[in-house]
Amino acid sequence: MEIQSQKLSDFFNVGRDRGWDIEKQRWTVHMLINPEGLTFTLGEILPGGIPLDLRLEKSGSRYGYPPLREAIIRTQQYDLPVENVLVTSGTQHSNFLALMVALREGDEAIVEIPSWEQPRVLCQALNVNAKIIRRRPELGWKFDLDEMASMASPKVKVIYICHPNNPTGAVLTADELKAVCEIAGRHGAYVISDEIYKGLEWTGKPTPSVANHYERGVSTSSLSKTLGMGGLRLGWLATQDRGFLERCMEFKYYISLHQQSRLDETVAFAALQPSRYRELIDRTMKAARVNFAIVSEWMATHGTFHWVAPQGAFLSFPRYDLGIPSWDMCLRLLDAPYRTYLVPGSCYGYEGYVRLGFGPGTPAETIRAGLDQIDRFVADFKAGKITAGPAVTSRRSA
Ligand SMILES: Cc1ncc(COP(=O)(O)O)c(C=O)c1O
Repeated sequence: MEIQSQKLSDFFNVGRDRGWDIEKQRWTVHMLINPEGLTFTLGEILPGGIPLDLRLEKSGSRYGYPPLREAIIRTQQYDLPVENVLVTSGTQHSNFLALMVALREGDEAIVEIPSWEQPRVLCQALNVNAKIIRRRPELGWKFDLDEMASMASPKVKVIYICHPNNPTGAVLTADELKAVCEIAGRHGAYVISDEIYKGLEWTGKPTPSVANHYERGVSTSSLSKTLGMGGLRLGWLATQDRGFLERCMEFKYYISLHQQSRLDETVAFAALQPSRYRELIDRTMKAARVNFAIVSEWMATHGTFHWVAPQGAFLSFPRYDLGIPSWDMCLRLLDAPYRTYLVPGSCYGYEGYVRLGFGPGTPAETIRAGLDQIDRFVADFKAGKITAGPAVTSRRSA
């Protein structure tokens, strides 16, 4: 099995190499890709600290600590019994398990773009034909459901979607999600729905979970975005299909045994107490609205960057009118004097776009300073001070 990055992880490596100070553990660039909520400290989540009598043996349940799974069900509003939730080491782990269980060599999958690159890479590795459905800016970054229906066939075993969507911030309504499930249902396909940004909607209304709507729906998520706890490595998958969940659990044994870190489970359990979780999300959204307002104001009058306003996820995917490919522009922006970090749209299969994130972990001053640097870059480019072309080295071109 060969893993071939489709560029997104390559650019994340470039950004980190150029913009992250390993010793000081902080960004040295204006970090405008951040999709995460506020990062909470251990002291805020567990004011009394980790209980010193916590036993560090292997965990008791193959599926994850049952009270934690109950807390996941309540906070994520799954209409499911506890047996239908499997604790994992993050959304990436959940997506991996679900895709490996659902797909076989020679199958087909319908995979949206722009989106998370993991399913496309795994399909390629598994010799599964990933049929690409494009989200369209003219549809508010939704995909065309008729087009999806026309792509479906008995060979299609998985439809993968991510909503709220990375990178566009588009959300699906319950009716749209049901329509996707109907298409899948006609052929018995699974809908793997990456819902890592659920809870971070600007309307305050959580997006619907596929696990509540379809017997072959698999919802995957974690605390990495909503609570900025990507370092915890704790996530889950939820599905009505117990047989499918069993197979994921069996597969999990061969990656990470049936274990979860007890430390991670303890912290996650505290954070997922429903009233605590609500309070942490409210704080996150309050802080996030400040950055959202700054970026919205900038976009409203911008002559070069234009967006379809996102509906959630602290992310956006604006188009720009400048004669330079997105990979080259983003590389140059990382360099002095701009020192600003955006992700090229080409990493998502869309040239002429960039991913711009403004999660509340990035201070408002950094957002303002980064946007000023983009303006400076645009002015320099228009003045002929920057020439197009891959003059700047990158890992891919090196
Ligand atoms: C859409 C999406 N899925 C999965 C992941 C990985 O998340 P986790 O930290 O929960 O493994 C990310 C992280 O950036 C993401 O944006």
